[in-house]
Amino acid sequence: MNRLAFRNGDKIDAIGLGTWKSEPGEVGQAVREAIKVGYRHIDCAWIYQNEKEIGDAFQAAFGDGDISREDLFVTSKLWNSFHAAEDVEKAVRESLDALQLDYLDLYLIHWPIAHQPGVVFSEDASGFAPIEDYPIADTWKAMEALVEKGLVKHIGVSNFNVVKLQKLMETAVIVPEMNQVESHPLLAQNELLDFCTNNGILYTAYSPLGSRDRAPGMKGDAEPDLFEIDTLKEIADNHNVHPAQILIKWAEGRGTAVIPKSVNPTRLKQNLASADINLSAEEMASINNLDKGYRFLDGKFWERDGGSYTAEELWNA
Ligand code: A2P
Repeated sequence: MNRLAFRNGDKIDAIGLGTWKSEPGEVGQAVREAIKVGYRHIDCAWIYQNEKEIGDAFQAAFGDGDISREDLFVTSKLWNSFHAAEDVEKAVRESLDALQLDYLDLYLIHWPIAHQPGVVFSEDASGFAPIEDYPIADTWKAMEALVEKGLVKHIGVSNFNVVKLQKLMETAVIVPEMNQVESHPLLAQNELLDFCTNNGILYTAYSPLGSRDRAPGMKGDAEPDLFEIDTLKEIADNHNVHPAQILIKWAEGRGTAVIPKSVNPTRLKQNLASADINLSAEEMASINNLDKGYRFLDGKFWERDGGSYTAEELWNA
């Protein structure tokens, strides 16, 4: 499997395990199984509300001698309600406590959107609107302090476009080391990937399988099914694999990290084994041709309840 190098030479496995939507009662088992079958990169977040169970799985894996802390790469993310500079360290400590670790390998600003402290979701407070003008530069400064304190090894962002990365880089001492964004053949984000590559920023693809297990309220009416795209089905058939594996291989093959979520032992293995598929240049090119800028996570959920932050501002400003 491809491994991506940070600017200091530290490495991260290109294929990691996503844990968004992995339910309590099943996520621990999934993480435990994933480590057993060879996953070394686990993607977490405070907002997924499952970090404690994941931490228990890490403890079990360490205790059984399956893996040592140094060989595991763990990411977590700063939720929107902790953007105030004085809340950033508190937030990472909550994740560290739950994950039962004394450092994270990577900590990301989850969204370029700040909530009022204490407001986890915009639905929590009637009439609440996300505060889009909380200075991200201040949040980033607090993120940089976490590196100095040894609480996290690397810092980055998620859901940032080129404009927002550029703005952050104007004041950053540490240039963001990772940008984690939705990415799959219908949303290749070539410009963003090029910008990241040219600036030494690694790129992780989230929802690489189309995030098909989202709650009904988070799904559009007529979403495409990535597994049913003819080009992908044909290529999968030719290689005798599942279309999910072609999606994962495409992401890994173009030099990004990718974090498919699964809680199923067979699919966990299948997803990791995607790295061994050899896609020809023609096959890669025909998958590249599928791009149409389609987002499953369109950002419209930030517009609910009269929120002042629009999807247009999020992705295009
Ligand atoms: P499950 O957890 O039951 O395996 P994404 O990473 O884009 O959010 O997609 C996750 C969804 O894709 C989950 O519903 C997950 O189900 C499913 N999934 C993960 N791996 C595979 C696979 N190899 N084949 C089919 N479905 C998969």
